[in-house]
Amino acid sequence: MRTPFIAGNWKMYFTAAETAAFVAQIRDQLNQIEGVDVAFCAPFINIPTLAEAVAGTKIGVGAQNMYFEESGAYTGEIAPGMLVPFCQYVILGHSERRAYFGETDEGVNRKIKAALQHGLTPIVCVGESLEQNEAGETVDFVSGQVRAAFAGIAAEQAVQCVIAYEPIWAIGTGKTASAEQAGEIIGTAVRATLADVYSQETAETIRIQYGGSVKPANIAELMAQPDIDGALVGGASLKPDFVDLVRNAV
Ligand code: 13P
Repeated sequence: MRTPFIAGNWKMYFTAAETAAFVAQIRDQLNQIEGVDVAFCAPFINIPTLAEAVAGTKIGVGAQNMYFEESGAYTGEIAPGMLVPFCQYVILGHSERRAYFGETDEGVNRKIKAALQHGLTPIVCVGESLEQNEAGETVDFVSGQVRAAFAGIAAEQAVQCVIAYEPIWAIGTGKTASAEQAGEIIGTAVRATLADVYSQETAETIRIQYGGSVKPANIAELMAQPDIDGALVGGASLKPDFVDLVRNAV
């Protein structure tokens, strides 16, 4: 059985003080919800604050990006080993990183390998644009992103990863893919590709999240889809009723 996994992506929101205050407000309620893994992914500078605020709870800590090199002259970057003392998770290849910061499939692949080497769980993001969706290219494109992300990664390592399918047109727009649509793409473009690259058994082990305008009101129908194992949540993870979202996921 794949344990449901709800992760909040706080993007470029919250100061350190807001991080501490928000977590203090919801941590005990979140900690009591059983049968689901929960994590928040904070901006780098707030990660130690987040880690301290969730200490002693089941709430996990993640980063939103990292560089693949161990160390070196890479101004402004963060190495995997720098995250390890604080984080269990790292989001890699988010569509905002790909669109605004020039991240490529090849770079994402190198980052996944580096994260795995350090025992971090990558949350690997894939998803098509509105134009691709309307042109009927979704399955081919997303499947290609999955293949590129996992190139040269062994099955034993792939099962350590989480994948988030986030259609770009559904991010922050209030438009959600219908639960059936999301479940079908995750099944046909993500899980079937993993089965082709590895094996059906390996594909069945990997947790796949949906992301894009997930809210307390729509999480239950998304989770009812057999191939959807959780959600990567943006805006709704910054509000106290994120607790209801997590509760409604189980
Ligand atoms: P929203 O939930 O705000 O649409 O963001 C989704 C997302 O990009 C999570 O990584």
